[in-house]
Amino acid sequence: MDRVAADPASAVSETRQWDRLMEMAKLGAIPGDGVNRACLTELDRQARRLLIAWAEPLGLTPSVDVIGNLFLRMEGTEPALAPVLAGSHMDSQPNGGRFDGIWGVLAALEAVQAIREAGMATRRPIEIVAWTNEEGGRFAPGCMGSMAYTGYRPPDTWDAVTDTEGLTFGAELRRQLEAERDIPRRGLGVVDGATPSAYVEAHIEQGPRLEAEDLEIGVVTGIQGSRWFTVEIHGRSDHAGTTPLRLRKDAVQDMLRAIAALNALMHDPEDVLRFTVARIEISPNSSNSVAERARFSIDFRHPDRTVLAERGDAIERVVKGALTTCSATVTERFNADPITFDRLVRDAVEKAARAQGLGTLRLPSGAFHDAQFLARVCPSGMIFVPSRGGVSHHPSEYTSPAHLAAGARVLAGVLADLADR
Ligand code: GLV
Ligand code: MN
Ligand code: MN
Repeated sequence: MDRVAADPASAVSETRQWDRLMEMAKLGAIPGDGVNRACLTELDRQARRLLIAWAEPLGLTPSVDVIGNLFLRMEGTEPALAPVLAGSHMDSQPNGGRFDGIWGVLAALEAVQAIREAGMATRRPIEIVAWTNEEGGRFAPGCMGSMAYTGYRPPDTWDAVTDTEGLTFGAELRRQLEAERDIPRRGLGVVDGATPSAYVEAHIEQGPRLEAEDLEIGVVTGIQGSRWFTVEIHGRSDHAGTTPLRLRKDAVQDMLRAIAALNALMHDPEDVLRFTVARIEISPNSSNSVAERARFSIDFRHPDRTVLAERGDAIERVVKGALTTCSATVTERFNADPITFDRLVRDAVEKAARAQGLGTLRLPSGAFHDAQFLARVCPSGMIFVPSRGGVSHHPSEYTSPAHLAAGARVLAGVLADLADR
């Protein structure tokens, strides 16, 4: 193969990439053009098999690690060099769209195929990766695959985490590894001594800025920090018709007080802080029984680590201080520091976009991504493409085939560049 050849970006196919995305979107399709493909489900496994079926004819070799991260490797001319890693996730939100995550994996496939078709071979291997459970919609928190890969948390950390059916992450992961026992097993990334030379993740913006400024490519500067908590309020179940209010320990009423107090704690006149309560479970969940237990999720984000530390650390005190008759436990489930991406990848993205004549915008990410954890171990970065109306985590999420092709062309240029250094 010709090492000096051709421009891989020109070998990117807009229709091939779009057709693959639409094929993937059939797996877990929901009304309104959406996708519900939770991690470690049969649909997730079908999507992974489809990806492998597209990759193997291109000469890519699949492998899976102990937490289920899936890799497809294109060999380099110097196979002993650390690979460049590119990908994202294939799981979706329960009421998700067709692009969040899966596009980053398929863009990496398109980019690698384009490099091949341009007649290029890179010095370093390029590995496409699909991280396990980025979304955290079925098993909280998200980013389990990348946290384990980078050694941020041991891979058995979440074994006992349950989904709404009571199935555990550990058991569901074992089931998946068993179903994929024909795929070669590999070590666990950084934990087992294999650190990539760089990581690049292509993703839809999930916000309105690129569209508003009519620009094609977001050069992501960093990611704000996130902390997730589960609050459980313990009261007592009683008869709704006979128990005087003054004798009750009503978990729902104290939950409402706790949420009101948290809204005051999280008040931010600048509207930079993000505070979300979106998952509530009540027990026994019966109209005429006083609630014995109320559990709710907290998703709290901010770009400033001091704000994240101070207000996040105050949550338990504020919740407990708001209760009148019940008690509470507060458990932290996720803590991702704000990060700034390395210049190496940011510059490579800008250079590749310029070479394509594409307009760029430097912007931070409000969403978390696996790149947040990779950034701790190797130069990492992200490429954003516009999201129509800024909508994401919703079936109507949309990015045009042309914008996705532009993103894949930039990714191809970046990978060809980084894998040849
Ligand atoms: C990722 O999906 C996030 O919630 O930011
Ligand atoms: Mn995503
Ligand atoms: Mn998402």
